[in-house]
Amino acid sequence: MSDNAPSPPESPLIRIRGLHKHFGDLHVLRGVDLDIYRGETVCLLGSSGGGKTVLVKHMVALLEFEEGSVQIDGVELSNLSERALSPIRKKVGMMFQNGALFDSMNVAQNVAFPLVESGITDDTELDRRVREALEIVRLPEQENTMPADLSGGMKKRVALARAIIDRPDCVCYDEPHAGLDPVTADTIDKLIKCLQNDHGITNIVITHDLRSVFRIADRIVFMKDGKVYWQGTCKEMQTSTDPVITQFIAGNDGNGDHWND
Ligand SMILES: Nc1ncnc2c1ncn2[C@@H]1O[C@H](COP(=O)(O)OP(=O)(O)OP(=O)(O)O)[C@@H](O)[C@H]1O
Ligand SMILES: [Mg+2]
Repeated sequence: MSDNAPSPPESPLIRIRGLHKHFGDLHVLRGVDLDIYRGETVCLLGSSGGGKTVLVKHMVALLEFEEGSVQIDGVELSNLSERALSPIRKKVGMMFQNGALFDSMNVAQNVAFPLVESGITDDTELDRRVREALEIVRLPEQENTMPADLSGGMKKRVALARAIIDRPDCVCYDEPHAGLDPVTADTIDKLIKCLQNDHGITNIVITHDLRSVFRIADRIVFMKDGKVYWQGTCKEMQTSTDPVITQFIAGNDGNGDHWND
């Protein structure tokens, strides 16, 4: 085989085909086809209300399946019972929009939550795993702090520690840059790339912040009208002549503000 020979196609970590979702009369997902490969950082873009959050919620089976297929590591999610979903859900961690921390729990309790839910009760093990996760997100020794006493950027890092504590293969980030100043957004980007490069994590990042996208994305997926409209590299996006893509770039001022139709 010559050096230039294409490598054999690898099977995707996440494979989505023909995914549809309605909420009443609202047809949000209209046949999404998407593959996510191991070890890549994919940024998911599109207009506000376009179905990005709904799509990633299907990857962790947080919404009832209607039509179509979602496979994680070759396992079809749509027909699984709650019990059978549990080991599959561990493969995909979720950092929710706005962090979604429990205000009445301290940092350690928030971060440990997925482990406690999965039945781990040994305090030494929980402490060790919490410490490990907080070190990865560069937030050591904050175990006893309450969410109300954390800055916006720190809250996001706690949410990230909670998303990775059960050692997922993939993390979905729902608008990790929203509400952050550019310097704090940079810190989150560095963590996302560190998880990819040092811990082998596959990243799916929903964001409106093009500045971050061009810094972290290996691949960009652009959703429109409930489908994947366009996908490509940062360079391909920057040089695209597709009017929807050029309008998106022109309308995005790079500070994370929402872009609407
Ligand atoms: N549980 C739900 N019940 C009813 N409608 C919903 C529900 N979840 C989402 N929707 C609707 O589905 C559409 C897509 O929502 P979604 O949150 O996926 O958009 P988004 O692309 O993530 O937008 P944004 O960029 O503003 O976060 C919206 O119109 C939203 O109101
Ligand atoms: Mg959303």
